[in-house]
Amino acid sequence: MSISLIAGARPNFMKIAPLVPAFRAVGLTPRLIHTGQHYDRRMSDTFFEELEIPEPDVNLGVGSGSHVWQISEVMRRLESDFIEHRPAAVVVVGDVNSTLAAAIAANKLRIPVAHVEAGLRSFDRAMPEENNRIMTDAISDWLFISEPSGRENLAREGVAESRIHLVGNVMIDTLLRHLERARGQRAWLQFGLEPRQYVVLTLHRPSNVDDPRRLESILRAVHEVSRQWPVIFPLHPRTKSQIEQHGLAQRSDLNGYQQIEPQGYHAMLGLMEAARFVLTDSGGIQEETTALGVPCLTLRENTERPVTVTHGSNQLVGWRTDDILAAVRRLPEDAPRSSSIPEMWDGRSAERIAEILARGIIE
Ligand code: UD1
Repeated sequence: MSISLIAGARPNFMKIAPLVPAFRAVGLTPRLIHTGQHYDRRMSDTFFEELEIPEPDVNLGVGSGSHVWQISEVMRRLESDFIEHRPAAVVVVGDVNSTLAAAIAANKLRIPVAHVEAGLRSFDRAMPEENNRIMTDAISDWLFISEPSGRENLAREGVAESRIHLVGNVMIDTLLRHLERARGQRAWLQFGLEPRQYVVLTLHRPSNVDDPRRLESILRAVHEVSRQWPVIFPLHPRTKSQIEQHGLAQRSDLNGYQQIEPQGYHAMLGLMEAARFVLTDSGGIQEETTALGVPCLTLRENTERPVTVTHGSNQLVGWRTDDILAAVRRLPEDAPRSSSIPEMWDGRSAERIAEILARGIIE
């Protein structure tokens, strides 16, 4: 029984990694399709190698462009693949443009869709990902949720209870599987850092980095933090180009961070695990720091992952310099490593998904 599994951008790769073997174990044959939304070695190939994801059966090579162009191009190229291979179901993960495009293409060809990481809502319609989530969920047949908030959100949108399955978090399956290897690399060493004596920063949301006022405000706080602890900053291509375009790297009141290339999975996980705390606007990192019990200050005013705040080690601090610095000051001197692990974030989420899908497809 063949099913098509879609991945396109960096945050998708750690989510599909555990699904491939889990599908095979229940007799489903995954056809792995890379849309090519991310294409740089450091944004894509590295993850396939480190996470031992098989070579994609096909790479559609879509690349970058406007959102309308990117989504329509993925749909167009997927249509012929779906028609040729006629999968029993299409599985999409996360909330990137490739996720939505694949869900629409499958829906139009009347192929059932499974959405892994369904039901998350930031209630911020200015985020492209929020719209991608809502639209993908509306046309999905299986909605696999990673935290209880998903059930309420989907019920409010009229999704039948029978289609919603709480399965836990596939990204945490990957984290648990790779943590020892990541630790063993001691990635902090190569940057001259000491465990617990440095801060990790990641930044790439358009709402933060495409708005020079917000970007400046965040970098000003980072500058202050860097006077106390080294701040290591793996730079996303979008952020790099914005910092260059606005000449922010030359400003002595805004630099102070140690800029590094986007990191591979093991190095990034190792850097986060040994950090004093993490500053981020990423969705996935809020979850990874919760699983690691590392304090996370999220540079956003909302989160689609509320369990990381109610149960985990995450706090929302926004983008204003003073708010960020006040939150940093409030972190206890001996930053606590405690955080309770959300329900079913136990390394077996992919297995649960595979069992439910196999049952549903064979019936
Ligand atoms: C995308 C996702 C976002 C996710 C992020 C993780 C959408 C709407 N956004 O945002 O949810 O958190 O990926 O990285 O799907 N670029 C490169 N090399 C690459 C890919 C992109 O240099 O391999 C550059 C291009 O100039 C491109 C820009 O980065 O225009 C943005 O890439 P894009 O995929 O459009 O969005 P992201 O900001 O990466």
